[in-house]
Amino acid sequence: MTSTAHVPHHVRDLGLAAKGKQRIEWADLEMPVLRQIRERFEREQPLKGVRLSACLHVTTETANLARTLKAGGADLVVCASNPLSTQDDVAASLVVDYGIPVYAIKGEDNATYYQHIQAALDHRPNITMDDGADLVAELHKDSHGLIEHIVGGTEETTTGVIRLQAMERDGALKFPVVAVNEADTKHFFDNRYGTGQSTMDGITRATNVLWAGKRVVVSGYGWCGRGVASRARGAGSKVIVCEVDAVRAIEAVMDGFEVMPIADAAKVGDIFITVTGGKHALGEAHFKVMKDGAILSNSGHFNVEIDIPALERLATSRREVREFVEEFKLSDGRRIYLLGDGRLINLAAAEGHPASVMDMSFANQALCAEYMVKNSSTLEPKVYVVPRDIDQEIARLKLASMGVTIDALTPAQQEYLASWKVGT
Ligand SMILES: NC(=O)c1ccc[n+]([C@@H]2O[C@H](COP(=O)([O-])OP(=O)(O)OC[C@H]3O[C@@H](n4cnc5c(N)ncnc54)[C@H](O)[C@@H]3O)[C@@H](O)[C@H]2O)c1
Repeated sequence: MTSTAHVPHHVRDLGLAAKGKQRIEWADLEMPVLRQIRERFEREQPLKGVRLSACLHVTTETANLARTLKAGGADLVVCASNPLSTQDDVAASLVVDYGIPVYAIKGEDNATYYQHIQAALDHRPNITMDDGADLVAELHKDSHGLIEHIVGGTEETTTGVIRLQAMERDGALKFPVVAVNEADTKHFFDNRYGTGQSTMDGITRATNVLWAGKRVVVSGYGWCGRGVASRARGAGSKVIVCEVDAVRAIEAVMDGFEVMPIADAAKVGDIFITVTGGKHALGEAHFKVMKDGAILSNSGHFNVEIDIPALERLATSRREVREFVEEFKLSDGRRIYLLGDGRLINLAAAEGHPASVMDMSFANQALCAEYMVKNSSTLEPKVYVVPRDIDQEIARLKLASMGVTIDALTPAQQEYLASWKVGT
């Protein structure tokens, strides 16, 4: 047990630490890749003396990443990357058991959320670690001389990468950032299998709804949408996909899903799930034609995918009917149910992704932080993809941890693949 006397924090209740520690250790069992990195970091201290501010969903898996960064020598603080995703027992345990400053309370209001981000920036980081780019965006709005201390950052999610690419295009980005999301060992697994399973889990926990026979509308057929659609189909739902990208739409058609415009899907859907990364995938025109009892949920990063202000305008009354379920009654008597304030439902009402996929995502985070420290002098203020050898190394370690072995090319096969002279 670490003394909390000198560990700055703003968490719900330090008394929850014992439960949090147990759950962090449970998640660690499913995170063998990160554990191996932690053991190496302990020996090699690649982050020694590095001040690191991490703005992430404060979950059991994030706690194991935080332990890894600290083991590598980082002087670390953690704040929430979403007002509803914090696990309060984990936040308490990080402070009490691991001596890591944490600023995160589940259900914090927007003002507190930004105060917590500010507290993480007051740490004067050399490395930023973001999930949604809020740290980087705040730093660039009003840096107070903090940017000069920064060698670089890492970014966890699609939405954050899109924001950072926009900053790079505008010439606004002032330091290099590695887009962890772009690693194959991140989005193939975390976005697809993690979001697929945990989104269903969040909606099930919030509503206890039966999936079999329901018409589920998935808006966005990217990495997350593919996962959600396939898991909903597996549970017996009739899945409709809505897309704006023709290639993704034809992929959904050939994967066997019904594809149609949201204006049509709105009339028949029982459960709507947005995973577009954009805004207002569901809006006023759609609410007006939805069936009585339609359930709306979002698993995209920000709470703008469902136009909640429009729903509020249409509603004659609004009440909470269960935890994470709000009923909006429309003037014609229809009821529409919004889950988790339109925030990512897998983290609001469930526990986020299973540890086994976060093992690979956070292995990428840890190795990219190390990469940034080693290579920052040669990197420009741009968004970088994860180096291929990091991706390959994580896949190799994950396969080994699963007891799966694979083949290697023979020298003759390598020579054939490297040559253009040999045909049939
Ligand atoms: N809930 C989680 O734990 C979790 C995990 C990973 C990513 N995310 C977030 O989920 C979102 C999606 O991520 P992704 O990796 O699937 O992104 P992606 O870019 O692979 O896919 C998004 C898809 O949505 C489509 N789209 C955009 N606007 C649309 C609209 N109005 N209607 C229909 N389709 C539309 C795009 O054409 C694209 O195919 C992002 O915000 C990302 O940050 C959440």
